[in-house]
Amino acid sequence: MDKLLIAGGARLSGEIAISGAKNAALPILCSALLTREPVTYTNVPRLNDIGTLLRLLEQMGVKVSREGDTVTLDASGVDNPVASYEMVKTMRASILVLGPLVARFGEARVSLPGGCAIGARPVDQHIKGLQAMGAAVTVEHGYVHAKVPRLKGARIFTDMVTVTGTENLMMAACLADGETVIENAAREPEVVDLANCLVAMGAQISGAGGDLIRIRGVQALHGATHRVMPDRIETGTYLCAAAVTGGEVRLTGTSASYLDAVIDKLMDAGCEVIAERDAIRLKAPARLTAVSLRTSPYPAFPTDMQAQFMALNAVADGTAVIRETIFENRFMHAVELQRLGADIKIDGNTAFVKGVGRLQGATVMATDLRASASLIIAGLIAEGETTVERIYHLDRGYERLEEKLGALGARVTRLR
Ligand code: UD1
Repeated sequence: MDKLLIAGGARLSGEIAISGAKNAALPILCSALLTREPVTYTNVPRLNDIGTLLRLLEQMGVKVSREGDTVTLDASGVDNPVASYEMVKTMRASILVLGPLVARFGEARVSLPGGCAIGARPVDQHIKGLQAMGAAVTVEHGYVHAKVPRLKGARIFTDMVTVTGTENLMMAACLADGETVIENAAREPEVVDLANCLVAMGAQISGAGGDLIRIRGVQALHGATHRVMPDRIETGTYLCAAAVTGGEVRLTGTSASYLDAVIDKLMDAGCEVIAERDAIRLKAPARLTAVSLRTSPYPAFPTDMQAQFMALNAVADGTAVIRETIFENRFMHAVELQRLGADIKIDGNTAFVKGVGRLQGATVMATDLRASASLIIAGLIAEGETTVERIYHLDRGYERLEEKLGALGARVTRLR
């Protein structure tokens, strides 16, 4: 299993390009299931999660062609609307095929995702929404089986803000008979990017980006070309990495507009952050100030940046209080950071992080995607060498991580 070896102490400086957003590309690629015409997507990141989704779509009968960051999908020959446990267990986002399949084919069988390292993460809201649209949904042998001659528009109120739930139901509603209203919708920029793609395919959607989305169903969608938005979490991760090393970086192909809450915290920590048209510049002080935060749905502070800020706070001046409100059990990185010398106390969903003068290199184990990122960030400032094991988590969500960090002057090597 691959590991990353990090020699700590290098100050990050220079410029790198940010990739397309994993969490936008996943639902957007699933939208191809809604039409029999080919759809072309650009700025698709080369990540393991994207590879997994493309394999899943192929298993269903979608023709996939991929060249660089451009992917063309042709779902005219789909003959197997099934997502098997083998696929879904490796990537929960596979559930995103459910809505489009039921909408276009009137039937789908998708494995339940089951648990994952960061908590239970059920899909009851996805199911509830499809039922409201008239689908008969049963859960048998670990599979969600949804069936309906044609979905009907409905008023759906989700019990909590769910990102993939909103995306699944928005896609399903595109081909439903009549109008669907999703209340308490997720406002994440990735939902808006998906809506833009669907509109380019002929869907009638208004309100994406707000908490009430209206979708007027149409008979059919058509082919289109869509460019995937930049990855705001990758952007935030490199900003954090530069900040902890006292560095100065410029990230291109991205936008500060999706990152207000994160940039605010970086500025509170003492960084200078300058938003350019399609780039962000950050200049960090010699020592950061601790910043407390609470994760919440967009536009508040993202749970996917919580772990990286725990690493940042581990070496900042003062004590930070971090509250995780989205996922249970999303502090697994804390014990690994402690192995590097961080002073962290956990009480339920709250972490108290007291900044220390220095971290020391050690061997640590990645437990999930963003936890891995926090360990890399900590390794960058730890004295000596840090080995991060189980980095397959990182390969799911960070494109060419060691190459990008290397371009900024970090000493990171992959051990195979
Ligand atoms: C998405 C992101 C993930 C991010 C998360 C929260 C993708 C592919 N993944 O995950 O990176 O961390 O949003 O910003 O976009 N819930 C239920 N029932 C449901 C659905 C959700 O109880 O039917 C709960 C979850 O357990 C969780 C909360 O709602 O506690 C939010 O989850 P959700 O927004 O659905 O996360 P994902 O869409 O899976």
